Amino acid sequence: MSKFMDWVDARFPATKMWEDHLSKYYAPKNFNFFYFFGSLALLVLVNQIVTGVWLTMSYTPSAEEAFASVEYIMRDVEYGSILRLLHSTGASAFFIVVYLHMFRGLLYGSYQKPRELVWVFGMLIYLALMAEAFMGYLLPWGQMSYWGAQVIISLFGAIPVIGNDLTQWIRGDYLISGITLNRFFALHVVALPIVILGLVVLHILALHEVGSNNPDGVDIKKHKDENGVPLDGIAFHPYYTVKDIVGVVLFLFIFCFIVFFFPEMGGYFLEKPNFEQANPFKTPEHIAPVWYFTPFYAILRAIPDKLMGVIAMGASIAMLFVLPWLDRSPIKSMRYKGWMSKIWLLVFCISFVILGILGVLAPTPERTLVSQICTFLYFAYFILMPFYTRLEKTKPVPERVTG
Ligand code: HEM
Repeated sequence: MSKFMDWVDARFPATKMWEDHLSKYYAPKNFNFFYFFGSLALLVLVNQIVTGVWLTMSYTPSAEEAFASVEYIMRDVEYGSILRLLHSTGASAFFIVVYLHMFRGLLYGSYQKPRELVWVFGMLIYLALMAEAFMGYLLPWGQMSYWGAQVIISLFGAIPVIGNDLTQWIRGDYLISGITLNRFFALHVVALPIVILGLVVLHILALHEVGSNNPDGVDIKKHKDENGVPLDGIAFHPYYTVKDIVGVVLFLFIFCFIVFFFPEMGGYFLEKPNFEQANPFKTPEHIAPVWYFTPFYAILRAIPDKLMGVIAMGASIAMLFVLPWLDRSPIKSMRYKGWMSKIWLLVFCISFVILGILGVLAPTPERTLVSQICTFLYFAYFILMPFYTRLEKTKPVPERVTG
């Protein structure tokens, strides 16, 4: 075996890569619950790719046959229903895991220097993931697939001058048709997965270049032993590979429970109107995107003017991109930041959740008012950040990690 590895290593850096990224990658020893979600995101990504490939074997991307081919997968293809539900539940699980993963970043300042690029690559993954989910949702060709896509694509029509031509270019037709379905299929199964996989590699390479942050936000590279190993670091393999297995098992328990017993999740993971085939002549009573898009949808609806709404929605995501440059605090972790950072993070999270709930519901004047207040607070978190992170009184940060 070792002779074989010598032969490989002389031609390809297999052992070097194993050591750099696993057996000699020293991660802080104080990782907590929130550090499960990076590896869980990888797990869900693999689930989506594997089940997606198998679904593609029986799915037909045409306006005439798409809906029926999904029914065929659910009823006649061996293990088809499990494959499909693993994929549809996986989509929601992906966003739950990624939102918790991002929340960890906010909590421990993992986006701050020197991890700005880790965060920016993460945000690019998030954007690609949203596009991937949006296009995948058209494929079953149900009522919500059709009308959800109709609402979102028509947003581009609000752009002055080029708006109408742009929507037509995206659809490839005067209305959403089999042509749109075909191109969304190509992007969903080929183009975007390649982009996402590439970005995940860049994300992890960038992280391993600077090293992982931790719940204390202290730099473990400051204190090393005589061999150059950080005193507060432990080898990723075997210590964190074993720890991550615990997270994987717990996650799979919950995930499989949902797949087998509540795959529709009360209409949130699979929406009820989508059990009816797409009909361009019949608008559903109430159109709402899937839950993971609803905070942004609520921001869009909070602004009365369509173009301004689209701009606000774009800005709400753009703000997250520039986060590393808005936080001026010398301290990373919320454990040692001042009370203003803590309050604002709480306000931001509550506003995000309320916007998410309001985005599902039909608008009323009262709900619109609440979503306007939450939109204001959402932006205030970012816009005021350079001020409150500089002004606030912080706690002393320990030299070494605290256990
Ligand atoms: C497919 C989606 C994603 C995958 C597979 C992924 C994977 C990972 C992995 C394996 C780690 C190291 C383990 C850990 O710290 O949990 C990590 C760290 C990190 N990720 Fe992601 N990630 C994804 C999306 C994102 C997104 C959307 C963001 C934020 C915009 C993000 C921001 C970060 C940050 C800041 C770190 C460093 C955390 C620290 O050291 O404290 N990631 N990611």
